Amino acid sequence: MNFEQTLSIVKPNALEKNALGDIINRFEKSGLKVIAIKMLLLDRQTAAGFYKEHEGQPYFEKLMKFMTRNPIVVQVLEGIDAVAKNREIMGPTSYMNGPEGTIRKDYADDITYNAVHGSDSPESAKKEIAYFFRENEIFPNYSVK
Ligand code: TYD
Ligand code: MG
Repeated sequence: MNFEQTLSIVKPNALEKNALGDIINRFEKSGLKVIAIKMLLLDRQTAAGFYKEHEGQPYFEKLMKFMTRNPIVVQVLEGIDAVAKNREIMGPTSYMNGPEGTIRKDYADDITYNAVHGSDSPESAKKEIAYFFRENEIFPNYSVK
């Protein structure tokens, strides 16, 4: 068990469906805590930088159009095994074969329009969090006073 942070993105199609609250609720109910959050409209350059490992893939242009068509919400989620837990709540990339009750099963429209992003390892979480947040915009491990 590791106390971790992970980057979550609620993508344009989920915001279009007014599903932001439901999605955040699923994280909170499972013990993940929002310790940073912002809404922003990506430009192509920022979207391409975030997904640079996918440049050249057949789906890349579709992904760029999608990620820039409306705002997104980026969050840092914190908790025990946050990286894996977020991926579990999201459901797999091939969401069609994933378990019922996952975010992607409920809100994905296809493999590209898949409602949410989650970091795939603690190492990529570090990089992805730094891509969107300055240190003073993140509030680690706060609790009741
Ligand atoms: P990937 O990192 O493989 O998936 P995940 O989001 O589950 O980590 O791919 C990044 C994004 O690229 C994915 O969320 C949607 C898009 N994508 C497609 O549109 N088609 C595909 O076949 C794949 C693999 C990804
Ligand atoms: Mg990925």
